[in-house]
Amino acid sequence: MYIDINTKESEYKVVIERGCISRTGEMFNTDRKCLIVTDDGVPAGYAETVASECSRPLIMTVPQGEGSKSTEWLERLLLMMLKEGFTRSDCVIAVGGGMAGDLAGFAAAIYMRGIDFYNIPTTLLSQADSSIGGKTAINLGGVKNIAGVFRQPGMVLIDTELLDTLPEDQMLSGFAEIIKAGMIADADLFGYIEKTVLGDNDADPGSIMKKISIERVLEAALRVKKVVVEEDECEAGIRRILNYGHTIGHGIESVTGMLHGWCVAVGMIPMCSPEARNRLVPVLSRLGFPLRIDCDHEAVFRSMIHDKKMENGEINAVFAEEPGNAVIKRMTPEELRGRLHYITGDRDEIRTDREETGT
Ligand SMILES: NC(=O)c1ccc[n+]([C@@H]2O[C@H](COP(=O)([O-])OP(=O)(O)OC[C@H]3O[C@@H](n4cnc5c(N)ncnc54)[C@H](O)[C@@H]3O)[C@@H](O)[C@H]2O)c1
Repeated sequence: MYIDINTKESEYKVVIERGCISRTGEMFNTDRKCLIVTDDGVPAGYAETVASECSRPLIMTVPQGEGSKSTEWLERLLLMMLKEGFTRSDCVIAVGGGMAGDLAGFAAAIYMRGIDFYNIPTTLLSQADSSIGGKTAINLGGVKNIAGVFRQPGMVLIDTELLDTLPEDQMLSGFAEIIKAGMIADADLFGYIEKTVLGDNDADPGSIMKKISIERVLEAALRVKKVVVEEDECEAGIRRILNYGHTIGHGIESVTGMLHGWCVAVGMIPMCSPEARNRLVPVLSRLGFPLRIDCDHEAVFRSMIHDKKMENGEINAVFAEEPGNAVIKRMTPEELRGRLHYITGDRDEIRTDREETGT
């Protein structure tokens, strides 16, 4: 199965197929120098399988974790390509999660003003979300993703077999992004998840995840992203809809350090109508996501609005009217602060909000 992505700048395929990495050489041109970038938390066999498909492979293994999305590791990748005589005919292949993809994609985008880049995502989060859309970046000065470019990959190979080794908390982190896709633009996707997750009262989150058809939900989530990215490649407008759950989620992430998808899951709760929340919360709850945050709420609020662009004192926020239908709304920082109370336990104060009061 594959999905075509057609942006103004480029066209590429996203292949979704169990076991496809062992056919990497049939998928794109690997008869050249290939720098394979992976991290030391990804089973080494995945990069080795890809390397066995390349005529002149070179594997660079960076330390796992956000710390490698740095100028230091970017420089190491660029210097390695320089030392090995990489030209514009050669390529970079990421074999890892969103971290490896963002770092390797950025290195490929700037080496000799851009060489071919292929993404082989190995986490659910990167398969469902970060590997398509062309965002690449490193962190700088303690600020996430502050230096990077938009540059689409030449192809994305999604091999769902690679998820067999992924820890459950990472699976759920990626699944939160799939729930997000359903909430913003695919009522059927959300309905399928809701039915499967709520179908068995006794099942634990791990067993529930085994009942989900990963190929099915991945395809649906990627189709949501495809439509948005094709319309707004560089996030000038509608692409911001993909940030549903992220405004509050980022604030929680920076204060608690919880996994990205887990923070997005909690961050979605305050940003919806009461009807949408009544359907979202039971699903998140059954999957074991926290429904409340127990941390310095003011710090979350400060971090939430810290890097947000204000227009006439308001922030663009994404709000779900119902599953499958989200809109971009202007909200004042005070409205956002009020919404935080949905996840801090003090629900009465939300009455200041415009939607619920109808003012
Ligand atoms: N470019 C984008 O559009 C975009 C979108 C969302 C997030 N991101 C970025 O993605 C990153 C987060 O991505 P992530 O959640 O994939 O995290 P990650 O890449 O840090 O991977 C998470 C952990 O899983 C391990 N791992 C990866 N694949 C595995 C496998 N198959 N089996 C066992 N362990 C495995 C890794 O070693 C790591 O320890 C962040 O840097 C974020 O900024 C980018």
